[in-house]
Amino acid sequence: MGTVEKTAGAAAVTPAEPRDWDEIARAARPVIGRYCRACAVCDGRACGNQIPGPGAKGSGDVARRNYDAWRDVRLNMDTLVGGDAADASCELLGRRLSMPLLIGPVGDVNRHYGPSLDTMAYNRLSLAAARAEGIAAFTGDGIPDELMVQSCDAIREVGGWGVPTIKPWSREKVAAKMRVADACGPLAIAMDVDAAGLPFLKGQEPPAGPKSPEDLAVIAAMTERPFVVKGVMTVGGALKAARAGASAIVVSNHGGRVLDGCPATAEVLPEIAAAVRARAPQVTILVDGGIRSGLDVFRALALGADGVLVCRPFVVAAYGAGQAGIAFLIRRMRAELQDAMMMCGARSIADVTPDMVRVARR
Ligand SMILES: Cc1cc2nc3c(=O)[nH]c(=O)nc-3n(C[C@H](O)[C@H](O)[C@H](O)COP(=O)(O)O)c2cc1C
Repeated sequence: MGTVEKTAGAAAVTPAEPRDWDEIARAARPVIGRYCRACAVCDGRACGNQIPGPGAKGSGDVARRNYDAWRDVRLNMDTLVGGDAADASCELLGRRLSMPLLIGPVGDVNRHYGPSLDTMAYNRLSLAAARAEGIAAFTGDGIPDELMVQSCDAIREVGGWGVPTIKPWSREKVAAKMRVADACGPLAIAMDVDAAGLPFLKGQEPPAGPKSPEDLAVIAAMTERPFVVKGVMTVGGALKAARAGASAIVVSNHGGRVLDGCPATAEVLPEIAAAVRARAPQVTILVDGGIRSGLDVFRALALGADGVLVCRPFVVAAYGAGQAGIAFLIRRMRAELQDAMMMCGARSIADVTPDMVRVARR
């Protein structure tokens, strides 16, 4: 067990090297604020529609649906395959990663999760843990503009193993943020185009909102680096992003925070992946939303993704156990992915194919 740490009004036991998720979640609960319950499984049920907080918009149903949809993807076991090790490493966004996992962007951390961490403290922890574990982390955008500058400094400090994410502001504001992002040498630069639906962005000056395909093409051309369009939920949207010059898309509904009534990402991933493979094969396909284990990563790969983003559980891990908590979760997901690969007959990421899963709708 680790040290007892004083935080804003609460004493929490912070495990130095956590043994399991329960230990991390227990340490997180006294310090994480009143909106997130640091649940045994982050399935969108306890937080419901709690915003501020990590919940989803409207009925809160979309985050739950994201999580549940992966449970309907069952793994086809086949151990009659040679080879005694599964290699989870892969090439993504121009770098070799230890597994096809990226830590997704979370902005306004203290508002949604409580004052013992803020966005920059979280960014530093997630970037450092990701780098040490051979993966990369996205950073979020927000107000004030200085946040983007600080996030990019932190990305530079880990050798560029990060992806700054810019909100769909006005063209001038995006251009300024793009210059800052580009200069820190990141793997890629992302835009969460779906943030147009975030309640707190409404009424900002300059406004953030939907982008036309022409606007997106102008923005993509502002950088030579891979440009990632996050928040794609339809075949049409994916192809528009590809035509605008996106190197990668993230099939994402922002964890249910931007539009109630969306399908789950696992529901739309296969059709989007099929269309992109056929018509824009140069585009990397990422997906997020309710991915909580290495099994879920395997499910996403089998449904057509090249890699995944995981977001909320890493925030809980950071509140509970700092960098060690985030590293624990990455290692656990990698071990689970390798186990799923071994049991389904895949020895490399390229071996994971659609026939290794069966979608069994309840
Ligand atoms: C509190 C909170 C803040 C978020 N902030 C951002 C952000 O700044 N930029 C962004 O692209 N996505 C943001 N997201 C969305 C996540 O990146 C991700 O798409 C979503 O949470 C789904 O993944 P998950 O189910 O693994 O959490 C945020 C999500 C939460 C819960």
